[in-house]
Amino acid sequence: MSQDAKESTATAAPATDDGNGDALENLLHENRKFAPSAEFAANAIVDAGDYADAAQDRPAFWANQARTLLSWSKDFDQALDWSNPPFAKWFTGGEVNAAYNALDRHVENGLGDRVAIHFEGEPGDSRSYTYAELTEEVKKAANAFEALGVTKGDRVAVYLPMIPEAVITLLACARIGAVHSVVFGGFSADALRSRIDDAEAKLVVTADGTYRRGKPSPLKPAVDEALAKEGHTVENVVVVKRNGEPVNWVEGRDKWWADTVDTAPAEHTAVGHDSEHPLFILYTSGTTGKPKGILHTTGGYLTQTAYTHKAVFDLHPETDVFWCTADVGWITGHSYVAYAPLVNGATQVMYEGTPDSPHQGRWWEIVEKYKVSILYTAPTAIRTFMKWGKDIPAKYDLSSIRVLGSVGEPINPEAWMWYRDVIGANGGTKDNPAPIVDTWWQTETGAQMIAPLPGVTATKPGSAQVPLPGIAVDVVDELGESVPDGHGGYLVVREPWPSMLRGIWGDPERFKDTYWSRFEAMYFAGDGAKKDEDGDIWLLGRVDDVMNVSGHRLSTTEIESALVSHPSVAEAAVVGAADETTGQAVVAFVILRGDAVNNGEATVQELRNHVGKEIGPIAKPKHVLVVPELPKTRSGKIMRRLLKDVAEGREVGDATTLSDPTIMQQIAESLRK
Ligand code: WTA
Repeated sequence: MSQDAKESTATAAPATDDGNGDALENLLHENRKFAPSAEFAANAIVDAGDYADAAQDRPAFWANQARTLLSWSKDFDQALDWSNPPFAKWFTGGEVNAAYNALDRHVENGLGDRVAIHFEGEPGDSRSYTYAELTEEVKKAANAFEALGVTKGDRVAVYLPMIPEAVITLLACARIGAVHSVVFGGFSADALRSRIDDAEAKLVVTADGTYRRGKPSPLKPAVDEALAKEGHTVENVVVVKRNGEPVNWVEGRDKWWADTVDTAPAEHTAVGHDSEHPLFILYTSGTTGKPKGILHTTGGYLTQTAYTHKAVFDLHPETDVFWCTADVGWITGHSYVAYAPLVNGATQVMYEGTPDSPHQGRWWEIVEKYKVSILYTAPTAIRTFMKWGKDIPAKYDLSSIRVLGSVGEPINPEAWMWYRDVIGANGGTKDNPAPIVDTWWQTETGAQMIAPLPGVTATKPGSAQVPLPGIAVDVVDELGESVPDGHGGYLVVREPWPSMLRGIWGDPERFKDTYWSRFEAMYFAGDGAKKDEDGDIWLLGRVDDVMNVSGHRLSTTEIESALVSHPSVAEAAVVGAADETTGQAVVAFVILRGDAVNNGEATVQELRNHVGKEIGPIAKPKHVLVVPELPKTRSGKIMRRLLKDVAEGREVGDATTLSDPTIMQQIAESLRK
């Protein structure tokens, strides 16, 4: 890569100025390529023809996928209605039921005995559901929710661990047309309450708790705390008994799953819902303190999740065993656990716990036990396994693995190669290691957007490479002009896509401002990217105030607001600092109030716990640094770039625009003390 290209990347996309200079340097010199084996290519489910078809007529390509992959109770009239951008409508006039597509039709087609879910609990308990059994469970749950007064269009908040009841709940909501809003179990009672309020949820589905590293970990207390204050819309709380720990009980409001769902009638007819009927809301962090309720609808979402699941993972549903390790609290757990694998009639593994419980080989034990053939996980996990060493996976038979997926954050070439050699080649014993598909997408995009096709693309370590068929991704400069190969800029989507978000719940203006105002007639993803000399795309991280910690999106502003809500804190600035394992780590700089006493480590712990309480344990800063001042421009904007230099132990960059140029020195001195 030329020096030229590197410089233009650095100026066009602030993402490259984030201190990951070394990483970027490595990427620019990465030129390994791995073509699919002849055998893999010959058996691949999708070939290069899909690119050609989609290029010819994009909406027609998607209409064809929609009719091939889904069963519509009423066929649609028009593939795409883009008459009122940025509000797209896909497959207008069509009616489709997500749960029928994920379940009933497979049973009707004679696949009732195929295993849909192999569930593995953290303590070692396991249960499997066939498609017939899962269909019955979902019908019961649909009846139970309806009996509790939930009807089409009502919102249901879901605060559950990774247990089959999570998938059952989502599909039961979809079946009756209720809109689910899953809140990740790592979020606090406050975060749960604000999401319940924003969506005006009528029902909450939760569990007594789950298991974390061999110990019971509670969930129900957070729901009780969230609902303690009056003024919410929740009428009932359905509670799955999972870890058997004692729980507080509110008579009249709380119902055990066993008493409501298990006893409900097992017959329930699924009716088609309009293609644009809301399927779910999922809150995600943005650049402001208030999380956004990303809205997805039915027909387009199901079409693109199902297509990408089939094409990108080369899914052969009759023989493959698919395992996506994402929690159902995130978009990946929605699209590639709850929906696409079931719509495609696949067999999948679902695991409740942590990778190191009870030992660091747990995942590989699960791969061996169920003969997992497609594994989809995040770079953070891969880097963690690298740290633990290759001797651990080497103890297990991983020969069933034939496709590996990565998602959530940029994967560095070292982790990519390790994934290929150690996991994909069964510790080096396989001649043709499994192809790796690095998939770029977002909560907002609903499904994968950029990824190689494993039977077609020669893969490159560290690059997500090519837009999928029917997806119009580009990299543009400040002015929205497409950059030439070898240059960097901002990642955009130029044409509407089926699984695109339809808006932000209750806030159409914010939808337009956030995604459609940066560039004329383009969706602005918030990521920096570059095109290499072959035109392949390399993702370079966020260009806004969103951090990516272990593949989880966190907002700097949200954590700053949490910190300043503590009585001892006057001001706070948060940055995402490069971290070897988690990609980024949260580092907070705080100024204490004049009357607050700095008790050193005790103060730091108190502030970390405070963030944990306000937002959730996942948002706790790794480091809290108490400083006398924060670097600000003359207009009062905090210069996070300089704080990032400090957090990453680098020499501080250009500080000439600071209102007080000595501040960085003051900070450095205070940290040396
Ligand atoms: C980042 C997760 C590089 C990116 C599906 C995006 C990635 C954000 C990749 C969305 C990838 C996701 N390579 N970066 N393969 N996949 N990202 O909404 O910054 O939780 O904007 O969706 O994760 O995170 P979200």
